[in-house]
Amino acid sequence: MTEAMQTLATLITSRRTVRQTENTPIPLETIYKILEQAAYAPFHSEVEPWAVKIASTEQEKKFFFQCVFNSYERIGIFESHTDEKKEKVRESYREYFEGTPISMLIATDVFDHEKKDFEAVGATCAFIQNIQLLCWEQNIGAVWRTNPYIFDAEFTKEIGFRSNQKIVGSLHLGYPQQVPKAKERRALDQWVSSIQVGAK
Ligand SMILES: Cc1cc2nc3c(=O)[nH]c(=O)nc-3n(C[C@H](O)[C@H](O)[C@H](O)COP(=O)(O)O)c2cc1C
Repeated sequence: MTEAMQTLATLITSRRTVRQTENTPIPLETIYKILEQAAYAPFHSEVEPWAVKIASTEQEKKFFFQCVFNSYERIGIFESHTDEKKEKVRESYREYFEGTPISMLIATDVFDHEKKDFEAVGATCAFIQNIQLLCWEQNIGAVWRTNPYIFDAEFTKEIGFRSNQKIVGSLHLGYPQQVPKAKERRALDQWVSSIQVGAK
């Protein structure tokens, strides 16, 4: 095994989803460099299918939070909440969005074609994991989220994506405050087996 391969294996196995971060700013140049490198993920469309929207300034984070909150009102997340509970949730979301150094939304192209759409999501997930690993390499924590607002077409439009793009996830980045313990992975023999010749 080469040294580079060992480094990659360590990077993959040591990376953890980080949900609690410092609010120390992360230079945007660092993030742009990471995105440039992450874009070497494989893809099977004519051009890379992914697109990214970043919230790094106070104004951008406020707008992102407001769009999320509008979406949650629209799709009925707060239907069973009292006004008091809704205000509490609103405040905790506001704190989260405004306190996270960098948030980004990652979308993929939609082709309205089963195989092409499958490939586009696959490629975009590879791209997202590249971002997580490249962040981890620089001690930047990331959480990949699939909260309900990403499935809201009105939110997708409001945040600036085209109608032929859909959001695959959000990433929230910051220097780790707390790194959780690894979730144990299943033993190989529970999910790997040789192809059963003539199984049918
Ligand atoms: C497609 C996808 C969606 C995820 N969505 C969320 C989410 O909405 N909220 C969250 O806290 N973590 C989310 N995660 C992070 C997982 O919970 C995390 O990867 C998992 O617990 C394993 O932990 P590890 O990344 O530290 O190995 C998501 C991960 C993936 C791959």
